[in-house]
Amino acid sequence: MENMEKKIDEAGTLESLEKIRVEIFGKKGMLAAEFAKMKDIPGPEKKAFAEGLNRLKAQLLERFERRHAQLEAEEMQSRMRAEAVDVSLYAPNGVKGALHPVKDTMDRIVDYFTALNFSVESGPMVEDDFHNFEALNLPKNHPARDMQDTFYFSDGTLLRTHTSPVQIRTMMKRKPPIRIIAPGSVFRRDYDLTHTPMFHQVEGLVVDEKAKVSFANLKWILTDFLHEMFGEVDIRFRPSFFPFTEPSAEVDISCIFCGGSGCRVCSRTGWLEVLGCGVVDPNVFEAVGYEDVSGYAFGLGVERFAMLIHHIADLRSLFEGDIRLLEQFR
Ligand code: DAH
Repeated sequence: MENMEKKIDEAGTLESLEKIRVEIFGKKGMLAAEFAKMKDIPGPEKKAFAEGLNRLKAQLLERFERRHAQLEAEEMQSRMRAEAVDVSLYAPNGVKGALHPVKDTMDRIVDYFTALNFSVESGPMVEDDFHNFEALNLPKNHPARDMQDTFYFSDGTLLRTHTSPVQIRTMMKRKPPIRIIAPGSVFRRDYDLTHTPMFHQVEGLVVDEKAKVSFANLKWILTDFLHEMFGEVDIRFRPSFFPFTEPSAEVDISCIFCGGSGCRVCSRTGWLEVLGCGVVDPNVFEAVGYEDVSGYAFGLGVERFAMLIHHIADLRSLFEGDIRLLEQFR
């Protein structure tokens, strides 16, 4: 009996304890052998004998459970020690993540302008007609609204089709001078090689006293910006139309694929269109209650920049989440 208790206490592992459990409590174990002696015990002593045995069995069981719990805890401890991971360890050959090319391009654009003292503004993606169209000199039924295939909600709100509404929101909550960029997601009903329903734009707006802001300032800053983004390219400002600017221009860079001699990417023109810009239309200032100021504005598509910088052929591949695309940008 003593012997059995000792055996339990001295078991060094769960495995050896299990062997001892079978030896003591098993069908052919020591307790079973003791119980078997019952049949030879004379009648009057049977009860006391059985009671004694049951007490012993209970004691042994309790002892066994205690030892089992101890060993289990010890083994868990040593397993945790053995499997511990030092998350602060330097892993020289570890796999590194990468910035998505759109995010990377966005960062580069934002860095350029913040270095020139532009502040970063944002606005809601669910817009109303006033901020997305009306205040930008796009009255209802204006044909230029068709340029942007809009997602509408049933309550008349919409997903903003460009970042230009942030111009309006900023001017309505602040006094000039204004010098901002507004990066963000925009939405249009479009899907093909060069269009996705969601994409990103960066808007720019500078407003100050009349004598301080001119088309010449706009031309200088965009020329410098595009050289910073695309290197030694030729740049041309081509007259265009936007409802919110007058005069307006679209800006082209000489094709970075063929150097301007004409190829498939630039449709044999030698030029790639990269942004829209202009001098803020007086109707826009009127809508936000600004007087005696002038301003310039510009807007660009970030995906287009990313595709040109990284030579990505299909815009849709930027949004498919295929790890193989990202791995190329590590
Ligand atoms: N909002 C225009 C678009 O989505 C881009 C744009 C053009 C923005 C000219 C401007 C601008 O601020 O002056 O196509």
